[in-house]
Amino acid sequence: MTVTDQSVQGRSGSDLTTAAREHLWMHFARMGAYQDTPAPVIVKGEGAYLWDDTGRRVLDGLSGLFVVQVGHGRAELAEVMAEQARQLAFFPVWGYATEPAIRLAERVASYAPGDLNRVFFTTGGGEAVESAWKVAKQYFKLTGKPLKHKVISRATAYHGTPQGALAITGLPAMKQAFEPLTPGGFRVPNTNIYRAERMGAPTDPVEFGRWAADRIEEAILFEGAETVAAVVLEPVQNSGGCFTPPPGYFQRVREICDRHDVLLVSDEVICGFGRHGTMFACEKFGYQPDIITCAKGMSSGYGPIGAMIASDRIMEPFLEGKNFFPHGYTFGGHPVSAAVSLANLDIFEREGLNQHVLDNEAALGATLRKLLDLDIVGDVRGDGYFWAVELVKDKATKETFGPAERETLIKQFLPTALFRNGLYARPDDRGEPVIQVAPALTSGQAEFDEMEQVLRTTLLQASALL
Ligand SMILES: Cc1ncc(COP(=O)(O)O)c(C=O)c1O
Repeated sequence: MTVTDQSVQGRSGSDLTTAAREHLWMHFARMGAYQDTPAPVIVKGEGAYLWDDTGRRVLDGLSGLFVVQVGHGRAELAEVMAEQARQLAFFPVWGYATEPAIRLAERVASYAPGDLNRVFFTTGGGEAVESAWKVAKQYFKLTGKPLKHKVISRATAYHGTPQGALAITGLPAMKQAFEPLTPGGFRVPNTNIYRAERMGAPTDPVEFGRWAADRIEEAILFEGAETVAAVVLEPVQNSGGCFTPPPGYFQRVREICDRHDVLLVSDEVICGFGRHGTMFACEKFGYQPDIITCAKGMSSGYGPIGAMIASDRIMEPFLEGKNFFPHGYTFGGHPVSAAVSLANLDIFEREGLNQHVLDNEAALGATLRKLLDLDIVGDVRGDGYFWAVELVKDKATKETFGPAERETLIKQFLPTALFRNGLYARPDDRGEPVIQVAPALTSGQAEFDEMEQVLRTTLLQASALL
């Protein structure tokens, strides 16, 4: 069966394109652009590959959106979902429990480090971040520190779209349309060591890590520790292009948080569930958070689900008397999503996916670093199966591209050219221009080589264009 068969496609290409243009409000998309040029219509996924409605096959170099860890088209996951839907398609976890939600909470808690045993389900990552902020605020109200409500996060970091999560997000351009947002969000520098000099920071990794962590303490002191509830950090920061933690960074952040009684939230919406070769990335980078937020890879995208995982210490005041957390989502811990998440995690165990990532991350990095021979590639950085290729105008000076060049490169040329050349990856200029890749955790050298080849071809075309 080919993907252009009616049985797969359902409707003809032009019919779908017209319906998409007239009815589908795509997310984070310039809808005007699709009035004349049709959006790609994805009709099928299998393993590491996707097909569009014209029959084109492309390598999914981004696991959908850092989501599909076990790859597309796993029939056994579809069957688990069908079985759960037959048994109990829906019931909320509002004062009732369901078996899939109980078992998944127990399983996720078993993976989370230390006493992170309390799993609050959401339907995605932004809701998990929102839940973390709300629980942090209420925790301090219940424990006699009612002024503690502020959150510190990093420049350029993305933490979701609800107005609380957006207030934690460090991307001014993404917030402008919705200001004023929830008050209480404050930013510190991120760990972009490639641009350390621009930040006036030391370039030695250990000193840089200490410098960056100390900016968090400075912000806590500037705001008054008695008003700060939490620090929200990704293990490896996505937006800006895979900023890895310098040595000692998280250990120092942990000390700072302890000193000022501030909760450390590890936002693992991307980094959790094997992206770095461990169930949670805090384990790999050696720190103990008070809360983990996660989503995406928990179900590999087969069902929408996220979670805020809190420590026993945070749960404690909520166990007293009539106290409760007045917060929740109809679809949080949805039985079908929970059941498929359990089956997804079974695949992790059965196929040894975390070990596979640990065994192959260096090869992925080495393959992508071959691109450093191109003039347009300034830096290649990442960890696990999560990498960014930073594009520069001048490699020697690290000069970046201006707004008009970014428009041509990132918004117009690269997304279509990469796709046309056979790769779905993510050109992004929320920080400096980068292309990000995050392949399925089942990928190996063949997929790494294919990604590198398509990136090379496309970047050579881009250089000729500029
Ligand atoms: C670190 C981080 N936090 C939160 C979110 C928001 O997740 P969602 O889109 O599921 O709401 C994302 C989304 O990519 C993310 O990368």
